[in-house]
Amino acid sequence: MMRVPVALQSLLIQCTAAALVAVGAVFSRSDFAPPLWLLALAQGALAAAMSRAWRQPSWWPPLHLGFLPLAWLAQQVDVASWVYATAFMALLLVYWTTFRTRVPLYLSDRRAWRAVEALLPQTRPFRFIDLGSGLGGMPLYLASRVPQGEFQGTEIAPLPWLISRLRARFHARRVSFVRRDYETIDLSGFDVVFAFLSPAAMPALWQQAQAQMRPGSRFISLSFAVPGREPDQIVSLAEGARHTLYAWEM
Ligand SMILES: C[S@@+](CC[C@H](N)C(=O)[O-])C[C@H]1O[C@@H](n2cnc3c(N)ncnc32)[C@H](O)[C@@H]1O
Repeated sequence: MMRVPVALQSLLIQCTAAALVAVGAVFSRSDFAPPLWLLALAQGALAAAMSRAWRQPSWWPPLHLGFLPLAWLAQQVDVASWVYATAFMALLLVYWTTFRTRVPLYLSDRRAWRAVEALLPQTRPFRFIDLGSGLGGMPLYLASRVPQGEFQGTEIAPLPWLISRLRARFHARRVSFVRRDYETIDLSGFDVVFAFLSPAAMPALWQQAQAQMRPGSRFISLSFAVPGREPDQIVSLAEGARHTLYAWEM
């Protein structure tokens, strides 16, 4: 059966719930004319129920429940339209194609950077890439600490990429950032490939790594394992799987 992307599912759910509530309100035989906020709440409840029935991930039903009621609420508050436009542009520039990649921006911390540093080749020169480099924290940190490495980051979203580029300008050499989808990058040119993405991205990325990475190179994932592939090394950074590094020798 064809898998419908969750963003498209949600659009269908929102539209169907709105259409059903609208039809119900228009054809109701009752004398009671429900106010708009009540209709919005009814639409939200119906959409949340449909989301559960479609077995969407657990964070979707609350989003469906709140979407139209909050849109109604926003209408009641006197906020200039440019505020919405600006917020929308900022979100677009940061999250860009998250609806397709299913990998939003969230940042690794110094604890993870240090743990990755310990997994790098200690003496020989090497090339490192961060797939989905966000604000560039990982490559910038490593470049400042590891002289024998050459560090790169690739980021699909324009604003994080721009910020990482600006940071690199004022930083040490041996670090660069490109704005590219990592799926279009040939991983055979790198000795260490690092990713901090999402569970949704891991199966396809593993296939890409297996097809392209050279024998002896290392693939490291923060927080997200590869389903069905035992890592060669697991480094626990703190309690919980979210703070674990997984490493594979290719
Ligand atoms: C969880 S963040 C990790 C950021 C950074 N690596 C860190 O450790 O702080 C994942 C990043 O990957 C980016 N991303 C998602 N899919 C991508 C793709 N196909 N190509 C390049 N970047 C991508 C997102 O825009 C996001 O900034």
